[in-house]
Parts: sequence; C-alpha cells; structure tokens
Amino acid sequence: MKTERYARSIADLERAKKTLAGGVSSSVRGGDKPFPLYFDRGEGSHLWDVDGNEYIDYVLGRGPLLLGHSHAEVIDATCAQLRRGQIYAAQHELEFELSERVTRIVPGADLVRFGISGSEAVHAALRLARAATGRQTVIKFEGQYHGWLDNILYSLSPDPLKAGDESEPATLPESAGQFSGADSHVVVLPWNDAAVLERYLSLHSGEIAAVITEPVMCNTAVIPPREGYLEAMRELCTRHDVVLIFDEVITGFRLSLAGAQGRFGVEPDLTIFGKAIANGMPISCLAGKERYMGLIAAGKVGHGGTYNSIPPAVAGAVATLDALERDGAAVYARIEHIGTMLMDGIRRIAERLSVPIVVQGYGSIFYVGFPYDASALADGQAVYDYRSSLAMNQELYTQFVSAMVDRGVRLIPRGNWFLSSAHSEADVEATLRAVEDVLGSVIAPLLKGAVTV
Ligand SMILES: Cc1ncc(COP(=O)(O)O)c(C=O)c1O
Repeated sequence: MKTERYARSIADLERAKKTLAGGVSSSVRGGDKPFPLYFDRGEGSHLWDVDGNEYIDYVLGRGPLLLGHSHAEVIDATCAQLRRGQIYAAQHELEFELSERVTRIVPGADLVRFGISGSEAVHAALRLARAATGRQTVIKFEGQYHGWLDNILYSLSPDPLKAGDESEPATLPESAGQFSGADSHVVVLPWNDAAVLERYLSLHSGEIAAVITEPVMCNTAVIPPREGYLEAMRELCTRHDVVLIFDEVITGFRLSLAGAQGRFGVEPDLTIFGKAIANGMPISCLAGKERYMGLIAAGKVGHGGTYNSIPPAVAGAVATLDALERDGAAVYARIEHIGTMLMDGIRRIAERLSVPIVVQGYGSIFYVGFPYDASALADGQAVYDYRSSLAMNQELYTQFVSAMVDRGVRLIPRGNWFLSSAHSEADVEATLRAVEDVLGSVIAPLLKGAVTV
C-alpha cells in the first residue's frame, strides 16, 4: 500500500475510530482493502477520495448504482420531492405510481409493500411465510446472505472445519450475540443441488414454511443456477406447499428489468428487492402473490416502519425505473456489452500471463478469483456452491484488490464486480491496463513463489 497516497484517509479513519465503532457504519466496510477509505464525491462510473485520488468504481455502493453515481434524473426527482416535504407519515401519490410500476414489470408481483433496507424486507417475507403456512422452519443455502438480522444470519461464510457434512451443513451464526434458539428453525442446505432439496422436503415438508434463495448466488462467487435448478425449486415448493422466496436484493432490476425471475422465467411466491430499484436512494420492496401479500393487506400480518416509502426515496425509485424502462430497456444490453468486454479482457490477460483465474457471472455483475489449484478449472463451472468456492485463494485476491485500488480501480474484496450504464469502453480499457499491470507485477511473482502469500 502506498501510504502517502492515502494520508488524509488514514488520518480520518484514526479520528473516526475515537467516536464511531471501528471507524465505519457497517461492519462489512471494515473489511475494505487496503483499508476503509474516505470519499468526497462520485459521478457516473468514477469516485474521488478525500486525498484527491480518482477511481473507476466497480463497488457502486455494493450494488445500488446501476445507473452510476449522481444520476441526473434520479437526483433531480429526489431533490424536487425533498423541497415538497421529506416525510408525511401518510400516503402520497408517488407511492402507488411505484407499486403500479413494480407489479407491471415483475411477473411474481400482485401486491407490494415498501421499506428501507433489504434486511427488514427479508424479515417481513419470513414472517409472512410463517403466518401463511403455520410452520416455523426456513431453508436457506450455505454461502448466501439475506441481511444482518438474527433469524437468518447463518452460514454465509462458515468455517469449513465446523460446517459439517457437505450435504447436511450445520446452521452456524455469523455474529456473536445472535438470539440462541433461532437456529433451530433455520435449515442450511447446499445450493445448486435439486436432489438434496427434494430429499429434504420429501422427509420434512410438514415443518417447512419457506425456501429462501438468491436466484443467482451473488454473495458467494456470483454463481449462476445450474440448468433447471430454479425450475426444480419452484416445482418442489409447489408440490410441498412451501413458500418460495427469491431474495433479489442484488439481482432485482440488475440482471434484467424484471430481475432474475424475468431472466430465468421462474416465478417465486414472494420477492425482496432493494439496491438497484432506486439507484442509491434507500428503499426496499417486498412483492408477491395475492395469496400471501393479502395477509398484510388484511392486517393479519404486521409490517411497519416510520420511514417506509418516504417521498424522496420513492421519487428516486420512480425516476430510476423511468430510466431503466426507456427505449425498450435498452440500458441492459449496453451494460451487458460493457461487462462482457471486461470479463473477456480479464480472462485474455490472465491466460497470456499464465495466471489461473475464474471469471464467472453476467455482464452486470460478475466474480473474479484465483484458484489454489489450476486443475480445479478443468471441469466447466469451477465454483458451483459454497464448498467449491473454498478452492479460491481469498488472500491472493485481497492482494490483487489492494494493488488495483493503488492504480485507481475500486473493487470489492469478496470478488464481486458491479457494472453500471455509466461505465464506458474507456473505463474498460483503463481497467484492463491496471489488471495487466497487477497480474504481471504482483500476482504472477506471488504465484511463482517469489514472495510467500
Ligand atoms: C441478497 C441480499 N439480501 C439482503 C441484503 C440486505 O440488504 P440491506 O443491506 O439493504 O439490509 C443484501 C445486502 O447486501 C443482499 O445482498
């Protein structure tokens, strides 16, 4: 790390730590590499830190900024609404403009409710599933993240020595202090294996309220679903009368206008949206079939929040969907094109420099990682679930991220790259120059054992 490059950020972090726990407001940010930086402004695909360094940003707020930083239409709509009032604790007309829009776009949405964060919308979905079925237990998948709340924060990145058998993983809390007892109602299964789900449901369906899944496993290696896997999940949940919940907090409005369910043609019973729905304004959305959402409409299932559907955020969401829907949703083809150029370019450079690499996912969100053992790449999809993701050398990738940040490319340490409509071909070319430099001057020597990782 070039410390002189980050002098003001380093001083800011030291100052913040005296009054802000860990110097950050979300524990995830504490793991940023080379360390949590301080930023001054963002525009389009670029960010500037407080030391004046400029970055091409592939973090994009960890997903929301599908249209890039400070998108003019979103900012204008939000500011115009702010001047008319911030919060009414009452209804307003933008609210149903947004709900009409979402129910028109999303196949599995008859009714919606808005909140602020993805975590609380997940909480509402689980409550709804339990109320609808009268059952308590929820199936989640190892390596997936559904927010930081107690009843679902299990087995995101469990220690493999404690995580038990691959086909029957243990349910392991991610944080000290989680409510003990919640774990007895969360079953963790490996993802991308329809036979395991089928076996489990055939034995225990009478206890299961819901299956919750990221339809693409974005929080571990951006793993695509195997051919037919989501369809099998849908069929099994229907057969056993279990509520199928798609957590589309990342994939929603990103993988296609209608999210992963639109892209793969599989309709869940309930869906959670967040992030890209409002290009950076805080809003989440629980959407679903009348059969379930009707319980909220009838007042049988409680759902609340002081800031739910605050007018500036809803105005931002409406402006975001305006931009995303424009010209037959042409923005998606553009993002896919730029992202694919970048993925192909990274693969080409790695091959030329003989650096084994995994690049997988989609143009709008993909994963990059370095396998410990290059022969793991031989059989097609190298990373297909959490356990197979352990074949990736996270420490080496961390070094890659720090070196890329030093060269003005901001990345997420876990390996996810987010793209936006603001990223240009010039951004891709500059990024690939940095990739070539880092793979050649940092990663290849480490792999050759010149320096021990
Ligand atoms: C798939 C998924 N679900 C839920 C959440 C939680 O959303 P929030 O951070 O808005 O609470 C996240 C956050 O990254 C996520 O990736």
